[in-house]
Amino acid sequence: MYISDLALDDFRSFHELVLALEPGPTAFVGSNGQGKTNLVEAVAYLSTLSSHRVGTDAALVRYAASGEPQPAGAVIRAKVVHGHRPSVLELELISGRANRARLNRNSTRPRDLLGILRTVVFAPEDLALVREQPTVRRRFLDDLAVTLKPSLASLRAEHDKILAQRASLLKSARAARASTSSMLSTLEVWDAQLAAAAARLIAARIDVVQRLRPWVAESYGRVSQGRSAARIAYRSSLLVHEGAAEPDPAAEDVFIAAEESLRNTSATAARLEEAMGALHAREIDRGANLVGAHRDDLSLFLDALPAKGFASHGEQWSLALALRLASYELLRHDVDAYGGDGEPVLILDDVFASLDEGRRRALAGIAAEAQQVLLTAAVGEDLPSALSGARFHVTNTATGSQVRRD
Ligand SMILES: Nc1ncnc2c1ncn2[C@@H]1O[C@H](COP(=O)(O)OP(=O)(O)OP(=O)(O)O)[C@@H](O)[C@H]1O
Ligand SMILES: [Mg+2]
Repeated sequence: MYISDLALDDFRSFHELVLALEPGPTAFVGSNGQGKTNLVEAVAYLSTLSSHRVGTDAALVRYAASGEPQPAGAVIRAKVVHGHRPSVLELELISGRANRARLNRNSTRPRDLLGILRTVVFAPEDLALVREQPTVRRRFLDDLAVTLKPSLASLRAEHDKILAQRASLLKSARAARASTSSMLSTLEVWDAQLAAAAARLIAARIDVVQRLRPWVAESYGRVSQGRSAARIAYRSSLLVHEGAAEPDPAAEDVFIAAEESLRNTSATAARLEEAMGALHAREIDRGANLVGAHRDDLSLFLDALPAKGFASHGEQWSLALALRLASYELLRHDVDAYGGDGEPVLILDDVFASLDEGRRRALAGIAAEAQQVLLTAAVGEDLPSALSGARFHVTNTATGSQVRRD
């Protein structure tokens, strides 16, 4: 798929932008702080309803210069060409209120836009996929699961709501010091609900991990020129609780072997409920949920060693890149996509300057084949010649960021 038209109103540093785009590579070049990332962030937001940079939407609406009225909201609009008929997606972000959406000019829930415009973003922040806490990798898996199957967005929301409610019950039990029997029976009701939602979320994530696995190995081989093999495993907190897997990092084979049985949602829900029952006293003591999908992780290995803590800076970069390229390949080969064209728009935000020659060439080779790739760079010379295509210059002016064709 590709975006043929993009329009922004009051998004970040843009006051008004109307842009016609073509398939193939399109580069946005400009000095630091001019609005290049803002532009691609808008595209990614329309695709996932979240930003790859910030957790809250408050920063996404243009902050007006003093003396100018403050805009009430921002609008992102794009026409996506895929399958037989293009789709027109429109999202309005209103400060302090719920977003509003339109699809082909009809009002709809924002959630109904998910899965229509597919994007894969690779950005410097992605080093966090390898280095940071498990929550970053869970989000990676969950986002990909939702892109593949948009109905999972409601499961994810429901799971997080139950998790928060159970956590607040555990906190009040802790504050009360003595847990009454009514408290414990209320807790059991929440155990069953959380176990059911978590089991379904775990199964969806494992499905993603298993489909992603061959592409991660292949993509890592391409970007590292085959110097080592990358492997991924779904690291389940349930298995650690059951004593089936050691919490030590080398237990990856045990986790991989257990993936199949964890896909059985009713059996996993029963196991989770049992684990929660055994953990009640500790959970009340800590005032926190101790087992479930929210404690799981995606383990990343290079040969036999965990990437976190062992891999070099360059290897971590390659692995982060391989995860994104693997997502791109997985989506591209997904035949169930809305509009029948699963190939996502590839977004490469400011990545070429930090890659060495070999990786730059590998990435450029893959991106050159993409139906549409949007690239940003502060310096035009950093863009590989294999990706020459349309080029725009981005500058921030007194009236907001401007984009003009070179
Ligand atoms: N809500 C907002 N309202 C107005 N301006 C904003 C808003 N959010 C961000 N900006 C401005 O946008 C600019 C950053 O834009 P962006 O991150 O797109 O830069 P960039 O061109 O990608 O730069 P770099 O090359 O450094 O990555 C900053 O100057 C920032 O002040
Ligand atoms: Mg940037």
